[in-house]
Amino acid sequence: MTAAAPASRRRGLPALTALALLVAVAPAFCQGAKSSHGGSLSCATCHAAEASKQPLTPMAHAMEPVSECTILKTHPLLTFQSGKYSYRIERQGAQSVYSVTDGVRNFSVPIGWAFGLGLAGQTYVFEKDGLLYESRVSFYNAIEGLDLTMGAINQAPLDLLQAAGREMGKQDSAQCFHCHASNAGEGLRLDLRALTPGLDCERCHGAAGDHLAGFKTGQPVAMKKLNDGTAEHMNVFCGACHRTWDEVATGPKLGVANVRFQPYRITNSKCYDTDDARISCIACHDPHRALNRDDASYDSKCVACHSEGGKATAQLCKVSKSNCVSCHMPRVGMPGSHHNFVDHQIRIVRANETYPE
Ligand code: HEC
Ligand code: HEC
Ligand code: HEC
Ligand code: HEC
Ligand code: HEC
Ligand code: HEC
Ligand code: HEC
Repeated sequence: MTAAAPASRRRGLPALTALALLVAVAPAFCQGAKSSHGGSLSCATCHAAEASKQPLTPMAHAMEPVSECTILKTHPLLTFQSGKYSYRIERQGAQSVYSVTDGVRNFSVPIGWAFGLGLAGQTYVFEKDGLLYESRVSFYNAIEGLDLTMGAINQAPLDLLQAAGREMGKQDSAQCFHCHASNAGEGLRLDLRALTPGLDCERCHGAAGDHLAGFKTGQPVAMKKLNDGTAEHMNVFCGACHRTWDEVATGPKLGVANVRFQPYRITNSKCYDTDDARISCIACHDPHRALNRDDASYDSKCVACHSEGGKATAQLCKVSKSNCVSCHMPRVGMPGSHHNFVDHQIRIVRANETYPE
């Protein structure tokens, strides 16, 4: 698929870069949103539905503190061997210690942050001499153990420190923390002591201090509306972390690995229409609730367009009237991830097709 084809379905696309979006989505970091701002008022006082469910979602656990990390607690000793390097992650009280040896020298460091709830995998970030590193090994749920971190598969380490992890540049670390945590600082200036692991309300909605304070003074202040009713607006909003069409289309060719970037995949689908709310991310997903894994529950979303009286240009299926996604959104294994992603490029899947990039 060339960049030009989907562009025709993407009228008026704002030319924003991912980092600009990250900064735009990044809230102004008011304190205490979860609890104390505005006296005893909390989001839960008035938004019980969102406040009771959102904290249980994988997005709310996109990062976990090592002290509370379920995977590290339930796997007190993890080991892995790659070439001459032996890896261990060992629980010691509330900490987990990551060590690597080549048989002669030893490297050992407490894990700083656990990234990802581990539905696919979990990667660790540690600090060494003021620099941040991404662990060369990750935990994968499907194998209940360690394997090489995805980006590390084709890279041979030159020394013990490289065998332990990849040094992350300033921009790389900033993006990593802003996508997986809240209140981690502003732009490239990270404040890792202040962060809240995972995504909280303000990470998506922006600062809520005035909204809360307004109820005390009797002069309510509205929150910014995130949804303007078009598919493209949400696609770009969610794409700040799930990656935008632009970012993937203009970046290096990834092949099958681009299946994890849903905003890109769905934009390339014939179903996509920038202005139509029925193909917006939030038509199918409630960001305050865990992902619905029942295929049949998505039928009504497809039928909203593919039916008599639906969208005039959308055809009807001659093969089946239910479980649409089971055939038209195939699960695609991503090399090295031990995980199958649901391909958002909705299409007729032909036998022996090559993956449409
Ligand atoms: C005292 C009750 C109260 C509290 C506490 C409260 N809200 Fe609200 N909130 C409201 C009301 C009423 C509305 C609808 C009117 C409006 O938009 O101002 C609203 C609207 C919203 C909206 C809707 C924006 C849209 O898309 O229409 C968001 C988002 C929101 N609140 C987030 C929060 C968050 C986050 C917190 C906690 C930091 C919070 N609220 C705390 C009463 C409250
Ligand atoms: C600030 C970054 C960020 C934004 C904005 C964001 N996401 Fe996510 N999302 C993540 C991360 C990180 C994960 C991976 C969580 C994990 O499993 O560790 C995730 C996971 C998910 C999942 C998988 C959850 C599961 O149950 O497996 C869904 C669905 C999802 N996001 C939908 C959305 C939608 C829809 C939007 C826009 C309304 C959105 N996200 C916006 C960062 C973000
Ligand atoms: C631009 C935003 C962004 C950046 C930067 C980013 N991630 Fe993610 N990450 C996501 C989203 C969205 C997901 C969920 C979809 C997926 O699995 O690709 C995710 C998924 C993951 C997962 C799998 C989670 C699970 O529960 O299965 C791990 C592990 C992870 N990221 C670690 C990292 C680490 C470590 C860094 C920094 C080196 C990083 N990510 C940088 C957005 C980001
Ligand atoms: C991953 C991003 C994300 C997170 C985290 C998030 N929200 Fe939302 N929220 C959204 C989006 C997107 C909408 C717009 C959805 C819509 O209009 O249907 C929304 C809408 C809302 C609304 C308006 C609902 C309505 O029916 O009009 C409220 C209230 C709200 N959120 C409260 C919260 C609270 C409270 C939290 C934290 C417990 C929270 N949100 C966390 C993305 C998020
Ligand atoms: C027409 C419905 C539909 C729309 C629109 C849609 N999704 Fe999905 N999405 C699904 C289905 C179906 C699944 C798979 C659920 C399951 O695991 O059974 C899914 C899964 C996901 C996952 C989990 C990871 C994976 O690939 O398995 C993420 C993250 C996600 N969607 C993000 C998004 C984002 C971001 C958007 C907007 C760009 C979006 N989705 C738009 C139907 C939709
Ligand atoms: C916003 C309206 C809309 C929604 C929602 C929507 N589609 Fe479509 N879809 C279209 C349009 C328009 C076309 C192009 C005309 C056609 O082939 O029907 C299309 C095309 C298709 C095609 C043919 C693609 C090809 O490769 O030729 C399939 C299959 C399909 N849609 C399945 C689905 C499924 C399954 C869902 C739900 C997961 C869905 N659609 C949701 C509007 C939509
Ligand atoms: C058992 C697998 C299966 C299921 C379930 C399924 N389809 Fe299909 N669908 C197909 C196949 C195969 C074709 C291609 C038929 C052909 O070209 O002869 C197709 C074709 C289509 C087309 C293109 C029609 C055209 O004339 O261009 C659309 C649109 C579509 N399906 C939508 C849907 C929707 C919406 C649902 C759920 C209500 C659904 N499908 C359920 C297998 C399935």
